[in-house]
Amino acid sequence: MTDDPLAAIESGLAEVGVEYRSRFAAASTEQALRVERAEILGKKGTLTGVLKVMGRVPASERPRVGERINAVRGEVDAAFEARLAELRVEARRAELAAPPYDLSLPGRAPSGRGHRHPVLTVRDEILDIFRSLGFAVAWGPEVELEQNNFTKLAFPPDHPAVDMQDTFWVRVVGSPESARTLLRTHTSNVQVREMSTNQPPLAVVSGGSVYRRDDDVTHSPMFHQIEGFLVGEAVSFAELKGCLTEFVHRLYGERNVRFRPSYFPFVEPGAEVDVACVFCDDGAGGGRSSCRVCKATGWLEILGCGMVHPKVLELCGIDSERFTGFAFGMGIERVAMLRYGIPDIRLLFENDPRFLAQF
Ligand code: DAH
Repeated sequence: MTDDPLAAIESGLAEVGVEYRSRFAAASTEQALRVERAEILGKKGTLTGVLKVMGRVPASERPRVGERINAVRGEVDAAFEARLAELRVEARRAELAAPPYDLSLPGRAPSGRGHRHPVLTVRDEILDIFRSLGFAVAWGPEVELEQNNFTKLAFPPDHPAVDMQDTFWVRVVGSPESARTLLRTHTSNVQVREMSTNQPPLAVVSGGSVYRRDDDVTHSPMFHQIEGFLVGEAVSFAELKGCLTEFVHRLYGERNVRFRPSYFPFVEPGAEVDVACVFCDDGAGGGRSSCRVCKATGWLEILGCGMVHPKVLELCGIDSERFTGFAFGMGIERVAMLRYGIPDIRLLFENDPRFLAQF
């Protein structure tokens, strides 16, 4: 480089002019082209080197020299863009000309057909039993109004189930405060919907997903339930016992069944139904001291039930003086876990094919 800054700049620009054409033409891939561009315009590039001499150019000459440099820079950039476009066209052409895949390779065998999830299999089996007992099948939504999930089922407003901690509340944009919405916590909303739109006699079952803020080995935030009810004239606890005992026998075989008093806000009286432990018991409900499934009690709790509370009938528009009925609900996963000996409820929702392939 000479001491004369103007001469240095001129020779630098001449060098760039010679360089870029041949360098860009020789680059055969986009990546190589970008490397070449950096060699000229990058931080340590030749043109950048020329620019550094500007500091020594007399002020009066600077605008003219600056313009020269910018013009060369513009040329280099334009050449780069043109070559880039060319390379892309070339690459696309090569891609299209290459065989997309080798047609002579042997085909890949299908990896086996899928099948229903065990929870759905059990759901349909339970629904089928009730269908054969004369119940109709109905469905209800998973996003539900508080009214259908709690209020019309006679839940007092301060019942713990209504709490934020137990329920997934949903904010529906633009809906009034009175239309509080949630992910249904049980399938009992179907009772309310069916009783609010039909008059007895009614015998309905339903099954589907429900949601609660629970998560451990035996609780999942999403799980499945079956719900059913029967309302008519002169329906008594005897019908409840007869119907549910028949159901348990059809599902689990001729094992002993017992009804234990329990509480749910929407029934009176309420009960829980146990079946003699399918793992350790001979069917009579004795139990073996080592059984972990029934905790050595000999009994497995399988459903909740009761006589529909007159308040619920009235809230749904049914005359509670004339009609009575019973209702029941159960968890489908629990039935599936007992049926197949599944130790952890989460296995049912992880969708691991090694697990699901066993059903
Ligand atoms: N909804 C109750 C629950 O989720 C289950 C239940 C109990 C349903 C008793 C009923 C019933 O219809 O009568 O725990």
